[in-house]
Amino acid sequence: MTAEVDTGPARRARTLPLRQLPALMREPLKTFDGLGNEPSGEIVRVNLGVSRPYLVTRPEHVQWILRDNVENYPRGGMMWKPLTRLVGDMAGEGPKWALNRGVFQRLMTGPNIASVTGEMARTIAEAVDDLARRATGRPVDSHAEMTRIVQRAIIRVFFGNRISLDGADHLADAIRTAMKAMRPRLLTPFAPLSVRLPGDRAFHEARRAVDEVIFPMVEGARRGETAERDIVSMLIETRDEQGRGLNDQQVRDGVLAMFMAGTETTATALTWLWVALKEHPAIADKVYAEIDAVLGPDMPDRTHLPHLRYTKMVVQELLRVYTVACILPRTSVDDDVIDGIRIKGGSTIVISPYLTHRLADVWPDPDVFDPERFSPARSKGRHRFAYMVFGAGPHQCLGTLLFTVEAQLIAATMLRRFRPVVRNESPVRPQVGLTLSPRERVEIVLDPADRR
Ligand code: HEM
Repeated sequence: MTAEVDTGPARRARTLPLRQLPALMREPLKTFDGLGNEPSGEIVRVNLGVSRPYLVTRPEHVQWILRDNVENYPRGGMMWKPLTRLVGDMAGEGPKWALNRGVFQRLMTGPNIASVTGEMARTIAEAVDDLARRATGRPVDSHAEMTRIVQRAIIRVFFGNRISLDGADHLADAIRTAMKAMRPRLLTPFAPLSVRLPGDRAFHEARRAVDEVIFPMVEGARRGETAERDIVSMLIETRDEQGRGLNDQQVRDGVLAMFMAGTETTATALTWLWVALKEHPAIADKVYAEIDAVLGPDMPDRTHLPHLRYTKMVVQELLRVYTVACILPRTSVDDDVIDGIRIKGGSTIVISPYLTHRLADVWPDPDVFDPERFSPARSKGRHRFAYMVFGAGPHQCLGTLLFTVEAQLIAATMLRRFRPVVRNESPVRPQVGLTLSPRERVEIVLDPADRR
């Protein structure tokens, strides 16, 4: 175990008062920043009334919890339970999660993602065409439109040509409904299932609708119904070290877990991209110039991606500033000591990548949007746990590569044709929820790129 933290004599963490909670919800940026810098990333407790979670921000503390002493900090806790009802073991811990994780990890490798990138690029181009037809000259809801594009792309990657465009939209609608209906359970995780909550019936119906689309595709894949390479066909071929494969339920659960983990996050990130390009016109011009120079008259595909270097750095900086997965909850099993602060066993721990990304000694001038931070020269020597966009340790995001490819393809496909102009007059403020999302609806108008 490599200990970067002091586990010696300990004192109690300072507790920040309850009055912070409403402020946190109203002004997450300001309040969060204040909490995290008290002083400079010290572990504090936040008094939320019902619980007093420890707030953890410093990279070496995050490393301790997510990697070096990870056995003491499982992702347990009641907030994960509602998720497991929809997506099964992938949202949990223990041997079943580990089996699923192993399977998906082997699936999300460079060569496998490369083998579906062409199909993904074509689907994105179709989805952007469709958006262009609907959006000529009138503002559209950026998050809804980005969700539509991302969902179509991911469904195509998972199910290849087993599903029609209408079928994909139908599946996406059902999943959206299930996620929305699940919200009351996520907010009251302590309520037993025997107590009916609003949304329960809609959740069951949506889950049935999801199953009615997914199971026949899994069965079709087992019968070898198409020769196309897609995630479902890879999944049913896959075996663990003992040679065991997944049954249909496990395939369905895994696909759904990946889908849910991958759509809201990606669509939110892309919505922030248009906001950031509006706020930083000089950076936007460099992105447009790079995309024009690299693509020329072509549609973006796999071969262009390594050349979109500046665009990639912009997306990396985007996620540092707009940290979509802004909190990572864990529970402590036994008592522990982290840099002189006693952590009681059985407590909730809230790791905040959002705050980690704002520690001034780790990220100089943290409020400045500066994609060059991610140039190879300036990335050198940065603490591995300083950039926490995709988590770290055993639960580290499985979709990082897929996201990177997908986000670059969507940005390039959009910007090759349009300048998405954000119409909101005042600055778009973030809100802390399951993701760090825009508080207001973000409206964009698609100006043709060649009209400028
Ligand atoms: C902007 C895009 C994304 C962000 C910011 C993001 C962020 C994260 C983070 C922070 C975690 C760790 C959660 C924790 O430690 O509790 C995670 C886990 C995960 N992500 Fe992503 N993710 C993104 C896109 C994707 C995509 C595209 C996929 C797949 C299609 C995906 C699949 C997963 C899965 C399956 C896990 C759970 C891994 C496990 O528990 O073993 N993510 N993601």
